[in-house]
Parts: sequence; C-alpha cells; structure tokens
Amino acid sequence: MIKKFNIPIRFKIMLAVLIIITVVVSIITFTMANMFHTDKTAYIQDTTSTIAVHKSQEVASLLKGYKERLHIFVKLMYERDLYQEQKSKLIKQLFEDFREYIAITLYDTDITPATVYDAESLENAGLTIDDLALYRKDNPLPEAQIHENKIYIENSTFTDKLYTMTMVISYQDPYEKVPRIVEAVISLGNLLELTGRSEIFDTFLVDSRGNLLAHSDPEKLFPVTSVDWIPELEILLNPSSLGGTFEYEYKGKQVVGGFAPLDMGSLIIGVQIQKTAAYLSARELLDNLMIISFILLTIAALLGIFWSKRFTKPIEKLSNATKKVGKGEFDITVDGEETGDEIGELSNSFNQMASELNIREKALKDAHSALVHSEKMAAFGQLGAGIAHEVKNPLAGILGFAQLSLRKTDKDSNIYKNLSVIEKETKRCKNIIDNLMKFARQEKVSFMPVSVNSVVEDSIAIVDHQLSINKVKLGKKLEDNIPNIYGNGNQIQQVLINLMINAQQAMNGNPGNISLETALVDADKIEICIRDDGPGIPEEVQSKIFEPFFTTKAAGEGTGLGLSVSYGIIKDHGGEIEIDSETGKGTSFIITLPVKSSEEA
Ligand SMILES: Nc1ncnc2c1ncn2[C@@H]1O[C@H](COP(=O)(O)OP(=O)(O)OP(=O)(O)O)[C@@H](O)[C@H]1O
Ligand SMILES: [Mg+2]
Repeated sequence: MIKKFNIPIRFKIMLAVLIIITVVVSIITFTMANMFHTDKTAYIQDTTSTIAVHKSQEVASLLKGYKERLHIFVKLMYERDLYQEQKSKLIKQLFEDFREYIAITLYDTDITPATVYDAESLENAGLTIDDLALYRKDNPLPEAQIHENKIYIENSTFTDKLYTMTMVISYQDPYEKVPRIVEAVISLGNLLELTGRSEIFDTFLVDSRGNLLAHSDPEKLFPVTSVDWIPELEILLNPSSLGGTFEYEYKGKQVVGGFAPLDMGSLIIGVQIQKTAAYLSARELLDNLMIISFILLTIAALLGIFWSKRFTKPIEKLSNATKKVGKGEFDITVDGEETGDEIGELSNSFNQMASELNIREKALKDAHSALVHSEKMAAFGQLGAGIAHEVKNPLAGILGFAQLSLRKTDKDSNIYKNLSVIEKETKRCKNIIDNLMKFARQEKVSFMPVSVNSVVEDSIAIVDHQLSINKVKLGKKLEDNIPNIYGNGNQIQQVLINLMINAQQAMNGNPGNISLETALVDADKIEICIRDDGPGIPEEVQSKIFEPFFTTKAAGEGTGLGLSVSYGIIKDHGGEIEIDSETGKGTSFIITLPVKSSEEA
C-alpha cells in the first residue's frame, strides 16, 4: 500500500492561520479600497464642480468689469460736445488706464465702422490695426448669435504674440434709434491669471463658439481649438444649462470634468482632473495596505511557525515517549510543565503512567528474581536433603566401624594412623552433611521465645577474641524495646557468627569494622543488620552466595556452606535474609524475623 503523505500538525495550524488572516485582510483591504474609491469619486466630482462654479463667478465679475469699461469707451466715442482732438486725447488716456483694451470698433449700419485702438500695445506685439481688420474680415462675427445674446465673447487670437478675446455688446445711444454693435479686442492676460496653472487640475474657459478662451496651459489657446472632447457640449453651451459633472476620455486618459455656465454670454468654465491623479491617494492607500498586509502575513507566518512549533513540540515528545514505553522503556519522563495547558496535563498523566509502569515492572522483576532464587534454593535444598539422606547412614557406619577398629588396633601401628585419618575425614563429611541438612531444613530443633538482643550479645562474646586478633573492631547498636521472637537461639547465634566470620575473612587481615544493629521495624518485625566496611561483594557474585558450596575461598579454606546454612535457618524461622553490598564500601546483611507467639508459630 502506498504510504499517504503526512502533513505535520504545525503546518496545518500555520496554513489555517494564514488562510484566515489572508481572507480577513483581503476583505478589509477590498472593502476599504472600494469605500475609499466611491467616496473619492463623489469628492472629486464635488470638488471639480465647486471649483468650476467658483471660477465662473470670478470670470463673470472680470467680464462684467470689461463690459462696463467698454461702455465708458463707447460713451466717449459718441460724445457730441467735445472736439475731435479732445476726444482722441481722452480715448488715448482711457487706453492707457485700461491697458488690456487693444481696439474698439463701432459698427454703424450706414457708414463704415469706426475703430479706436491702442497703437502702443499693437506695436509691442508687432501688429497693425490692419491685421485686426483682416482677421475680422476672414472671421466674420456670427450676426445671428450676436443679436440673440446681449453679449458675445470669442477667442480671437491669431498670433502667439498677442492672446486676445473679442467682446461684442450692443449699445443704445440715447440719440440713436437703433442700438449699435460694439466690438472690443481685449488682451487675455487677466483672464489667463484666473485660469492659472494648477498641479493637478486643468481649468479652462470655453467661448461662445465652443473654442478654448482661456486655459491653465496658455499654449492651448493658439491655434484656436475646439473643446470637442467634452460630452454634451451643445447642452452645456445652452444659456439655460446648469452645468454638471462628467467622466470622459481626454487624450487617451480617463478624466473627471466639472462644468459651470457663466451668466455672461454662453460661456462655460470647466475644471478637469485625470482620474489617475485623482485616485493617487487611493492607490497609495491601496499600496500601503498591500505592504501592511504582506508584513502582517509574514508576521502571521512566523508567529504561526513559532506557535505551532510550541504547540506540537510537546505532542512530538509525547509521541516519542509513547513509542519508547511501547518498547518497554518505562524509566522516562516528558516535561509538560512549560505548556501549562491540556497537553501539559496529558504529559503529567503520561509521566504518572510511565512511573507507575516503571514501579510495577521493577516489582515484577524483583518478584520474578525472588521466585527464581527461592525455587533455585528449594531445588538445592531438595538435592542437599537427598544427598544427606543417602550419605548420612553409610557415613555413620564408616565412622562407627573406624572408631571400633581404632579401639582394637595398636596405637603405634600404621593401620591405627590410617584409621585415624578415616575417622577425621568421615567426621568432616558428617559435619558437611549436618550443615546440608540444616540448609535443607531437615534438622529438627526446638523453638522457644528468644531474646534477639541476648543472642546478639552472646554471638559477639564468642567471636570477639578472634576478630580482635584480626584487627577487626566490633560495634553494636541494639534497640531496647525488641520483643522476643519464637525460634531457636543456638541457630540464630550460628547465623550471626557465620556472618561476622565471613566479614572478618573478607577483610583478609586488614583492619576493619563490623557492627550489629537490631531494630523493631514493624510491630511484628525485627531487623538485625550486620554491617561491615570490607571489600564488598561484586554484583555478579551476590546472586550466588546463598547457594550451597559457593565459595570464593581457596580449596580447603571454605566449604561454601556458611551462608546456605544461615539462609536455611532464617527461612526456617519464617524470616528473610537480604544483602546490600557495594564493592569497595562494604556489605550489609539484613535479617528480618517475624515476632510470633508460640501459638501463632
Ligand atoms: N561480608 C562479606 N564480605 C565479602 N564477601 C563475603 C562476605 N560474606 C560472604 N562473602 C562471600 O560469600 C562467599 C560464600 O560465603 P559462605 O559463608 O557461604 O562460604 P565461605 O565462607 O566461603 O565458606 P564457609 O563458610 O563454608 O567456610 C564467600 O566465599 C565470600 O566470597
Ligand atoms: Mg563462611
């Protein structure tokens, strides 16, 4: 079967966090950008039309001023009470006062038009009055439109040296029957100041013909251009139009334009802005939001990795620990404190479980080795008992006959010597057999109440001399309130002597200490501890020392029955004998004996 690709939990968490953040940030960004865009559109439209209205008022008042001054010129031109010379002087003075006026022409129905002009302005621009007349001849005034409107204004620039507009009004002289048409050529200077250049807005004025009359970029005024890009221009130019705001294309770019009509002639003022410029701040906001989103995402990703690692690390540890426990390694702990959450609790429970299992496993192992040991000892006992049983009687026979023969043999003969050896060796064998029987608990001894402390004192008295010869000091620490046990004092004494002699022998002639301690460890349990500071017993030897005939001593020096006999005696008393030894430090034999009444025993 193909193994499925496993995604670690930390990546799943991180992915989930990232997805949530991305979705939330995207929604916020989209909504904000959308709201901002809508808001900005309304704002831009309002702004363009407000500026247009404002500009239209300014332009209207400028034009009104031009019209009023034009009336002054005309009145003077019609003045009948002055001499021609005086009139010319005054008109010249007026041209000097109102510098933007270039030429003024009065159209009479029957006679040729009369023109007054500012020779200096024309000369400065390198023009003559004939140039103006020629321009007018080529571009006749739209009579119908002039009659229809009270005022007619157009861009009449025909050279880039002098930007002009033509203002046409009708003037009713009190002495005349019909109104006269008055045409004034006025420099565009002041008007251009009003539509002055702006960084982002294009402000322009459209004349009665639908051509640019003023623009924030004056270069657009010559040659005269039609504003044909403005949608619904016809309607806007209509005197009853209220203006409006439009979105349209200008020179390949999307623009927003606000338009306001002028109450002088059919002029309109336009304020136009490129959408890209208008939405610059919106785009900047969007860019910033995108950068912030990216930073947020990066932070979220890093935090995600950090947190998920923190979150999954303990799980990983737990998983590894569980595998070890599965393999039978119970001596293991997982730190769960640091997380302080459910995983921490789980880790604590796991530790508890592992330690419980560890304790149980140790107990099981101990029980198992104790069982193996006791079975082994039982088997040895059985074997010993069998041997003792089979050998005991023939041995007794040999000893009997040897002793009998000895009595009847001459003491100086060789036979006597041989018989003596037979008697001695047989006695040794008998001694071994007796010991084997003690180990196999085959020997019948009488039990009675015994004071353990007294037995200890007696045993010390017996071995004290031998120990002191061998530079071994004996110490004791006996508890007072030790109750009597039910047993055999001689046997217990034998055990204690065995243990003390063993300790002394282990010290191998070196000075040392042996101490005997008694204590009541439980209401019904007495402990005797025989402690020495000898060489200790290696671990691999410890499990064998109670076996019969196990000895580390040279042949003939020890039979290896001392501890086996002691073991048998203690078991016979319903007690336990345990060893606690460390090489180089010493050995302790701990004997526990039950306190029993004779009835219980
Ligand atoms: N206190 C001790 N310190 C070090 N080793 C010890 C101590 N007691 C016993 N042993 C070891 O245990 C072995 C078995 O002791 P055990 O008394 O059964 O036999 P043994 O002393 O060798 O011979 P036996 O007692 O029959 O003369 C000893 O040979 C010795 O190696
Ligand atoms: Mg011994």
